[in-house]
Amino acid sequence: MPSNDKLFAYNLGLIVPLSEATLHISDLSVQRGYGVFDFVKVQQGFPLFLDDYLDRFFQSAQLMHLSMPLTREEIKQVIDELIARNQLPEAGLKMILTGGYSEDGFTPMNPNLLITQLPLTLPSEEKVAKGIPIMTHDYVREMPEVKTINYSMGIRLLHEQKANGTEEVLYVKNGLVSEFPRCNFFMVTHDNTIVTPANNILRGITRKNVLSLAGRRYKAEVRDIRLEEILQAKECFLTSTTKRILPIVRVDGVLVGTGKPGEVSLQLLQDLMELEDSQIAALRE
Ligand SMILES: Cc1ncc(COP(=O)(O)O)c(C=O)c1O
Repeated sequence: MPSNDKLFAYNLGLIVPLSEATLHISDLSVQRGYGVFDFVKVQQGFPLFLDDYLDRFFQSAQLMHLSMPLTREEIKQVIDELIARNQLPEAGLKMILTGGYSEDGFTPMNPNLLITQLPLTLPSEEKVAKGIPIMTHDYVREMPEVKTINYSMGIRLLHEQKANGTEEVLYVKNGLVSEFPRCNFFMVTHDNTIVTPANNILRGITRKNVLSLAGRRYKAEVRDIRLEEILQAKECFLTSTTKRILPIVRVDGVLVGTGKPGEVSLQLLQDLMELEDSQIAALRE
């Protein structure tokens, strides 16, 4: 695996060594935290479910009134070139679109596009086998449907998580759970119905895949979930591109189900990994 100083990145129209990828301090991402991004997983050298991520990236840009400097096909070409040059078979591709170099530090100018590819570590088998404890926090993201670069609340809460020994924080507002700073939430009821919140969430690509996989074996529902319900659930888990499916075994100190990762969560994880493998096989052809 090449070290980071041998990697290349796309920086404002050019492919450059990662160490030379820069942004001027007048950029609105620095000045006001204004920008959007998306994150694609590369496995065995292939970007998985790329069209879904590009759809979301373009939609986030549109909702924030940021014009994309490249077409979808041009972005795909850049991604192919980065994958070929970086030779990182397991990696995360981050596409960032910022508010641009602003003259008054407030008004967006021509958006700047950056694409990096960095090594990725997926959760270990031990972590999946053990599951994770989480805490809840009263919050809802400002524009949940947009993947903005603003993760202030999630980052600020790392301090609290460290103090209480939890590994993620689930946002709850008016008694309804929504999502984690970087993951979606799922619950399994005692009749093996897979439920995920309908509102105030980012539409995760892993959530979408898990919902369609869940529908093959179980009943799947997208609806509001009350915090009390998850304390009675049989199983809970989170989903994201980098974490796939990670079982949740404790919420605010209360055990979920048996307090161990459940069979439905683990079955869906296996199904998801098979779906990824089938994507890779299809992309190889
Ligand atoms: C707020 C939020 N919710 C959910 C997710 C999970 O989405 P995905 O499965 O597409 O990674 C993310 C991803 O980073 C996120 O930022």
